[in-house]
Amino acid sequence: MHKKLFIPGPTEVREDVLISQAAPMIGHRMKSFSDLYGSINDKFHKLFKTEHEIYVHTSSGTGLMEAASRNFINKKALHTVCGAFSKRWADISKSNGKEIGVIEVDMGKAIKPEMIDRELSKGEYDTLMVTQNETSTGVKNPVKEIGELLKEKYPDVLLLVDSVSSFMGMEIGFETWGVDVVVASSQKAFALPPGIAIMTISKRSFERAKEVKNRGFYFDVLKMKKYFDEKPYQTLSTPAISLFYALDYQLSRILNEGLDERYRRHKEMAGFVREWAKRYFALFAEQGYESDTVTAIKNTRGVSIKDLNNELGNRGMALSNGYGALKEKTFRIAHMGDITLGEIKDLIANINEIINLGV
Ligand SMILES: Cc1ncc(COP(=O)(O)O)c(C=O)c1O
Repeated sequence: MHKKLFIPGPTEVREDVLISQAAPMIGHRMKSFSDLYGSINDKFHKLFKTEHEIYVHTSSGTGLMEAASRNFINKKALHTVCGAFSKRWADISKSNGKEIGVIEVDMGKAIKPEMIDRELSKGEYDTLMVTQNETSTGVKNPVKEIGELLKEKYPDVLLLVDSVSSFMGMEIGFETWGVDVVVASSQKAFALPPGIAIMTISKRSFERAKEVKNRGFYFDVLKMKKYFDEKPYQTLSTPAISLFYALDYQLSRILNEGLDERYRRHKEMAGFVREWAKRYFALFAEQGYESDTVTAIKNTRGVSIKDLNNELGNRGMALSNGYGALKEKTFRIAHMGDITLGEIKDLIANINEIINLGV
């Protein structure tokens, strides 16, 4: 039996979206591919009023996090670590030989602009990395406020954002927030199968990339730009064409729903789960910084999350245990992608029944 996914990626993919992949294959040097990628590009720009380029790349989000580290850090990057994925990004930069500094807060806490201000005031950095939504802890970092700080006091520092588990589910501004680069994966709030990732890039980030040595090959953004601009709308190597079909189809669905409505739906689902969690458990994320795509819940009742998930599995659903060391101490419910409030209510009703809550 298929288990409906209430996990923070991969998320549930609707049947019509799954079917949209099953189109005849085309060559990636054919006009039909350029038309497909061009259509994706048009739809992105209808959704987001931005001058930034939006690229689709065949890799998961981690690949494009590596691309961001390799292409845009020239001098030194400040990483902001508040959980497993923001730590991963710092590790990626370090393993690519980049000089980095790190601000680290306890898991469950958010990164605040004043922490960044203190560190950037040393004048050592040209790049700042922020994880908009730390999936391991359910924390939303204040990217907008951080962008405002940079615009006001550190205009030469590039702001690079991991929006992997928030893009299409939580608001992000490009020029308006002062964000230079955004990385996102298909298998999260896009509600697509895994396998492609997207990266948005500001004009000045390309200027930075020109100064950076050893950008690599597969993830060189200047090569991406060349194929995109000149062919046009092509990719350096053979892309996951079936997923491009699905992305094009899903972007039409998102345009139909409307981005604001999509954000509202995510907020509504998050609000419902948070109220339930506060009533019977406690929230793991610092107050005021709770994610709208995934809620991490403190297991204050000592429930066996493994057993709960097994029984949910028998009923055709799955949630997530806590990440890494937070296993059994926390558990996570994702309200991400195309999931509806009705489906969330159904999940919660089943949890209530299984562990005898509210009855
Ligand atoms: C916030 C965040 N960043 C990065 C990643 C890595 O993305 P991917 O698995 O697409 O490489 C994840 C995956 O869960 C994530 O949640």
